Amino acid sequence: MNYNDLVKKAIEAKKFAYTPYSNFKVGAALITENGTVYTGANIENASYGATNCAERTAIFKAVSEGHTKIRALAVVGDESQYTYPCGICRQVMIEFATEDFKIIIVKNKDEYIVKTIEEILPGAFTIENLKKH
Ligand code: THU
Repeated sequence: MNYNDLVKKAIEAKKFAYTPYSNFKVGAALITENGTVYTGANIENASYGATNCAERTAIFKAVSEGHTKIRALAVVGDESQYTYPCGICRQVMIEFATEDFKIIIVKNKDEYIVKTIEEILPGAFTIENLKKH
């Protein structure tokens, strides 16, 4: 699967966003190391704090089915702007990112930016920090 196909899947995934509070719909699609694709959408909650972002929905779907190595993830929000992942999602992404992981920040099906996890989360706290303990 190429980036264009992953972008299309992320756009499609937006249709299942549950957003009665913000009405800001976000979709995500990821591809695992062995080529399996998972999608996700944001799921809001009346408590606000229990809201789950689209990226984490997709990642948790993958991990809960045994896929802990993610090669690329595309994220799309309102198609008039580039929607960058929130800080919590960046931290969850680095936990399961392969060495060559790419984040695809999508504006629309023809316009997207490809970045590394180091570019969007420099100096991250990871499993490496805990290995000596
Ligand atoms: N949201 C995401 O799903 N992903 C992001 O990276 C940014 C924010 C969602 C959470 C909430 O439902 C809505 O966008 C407004 O914050």
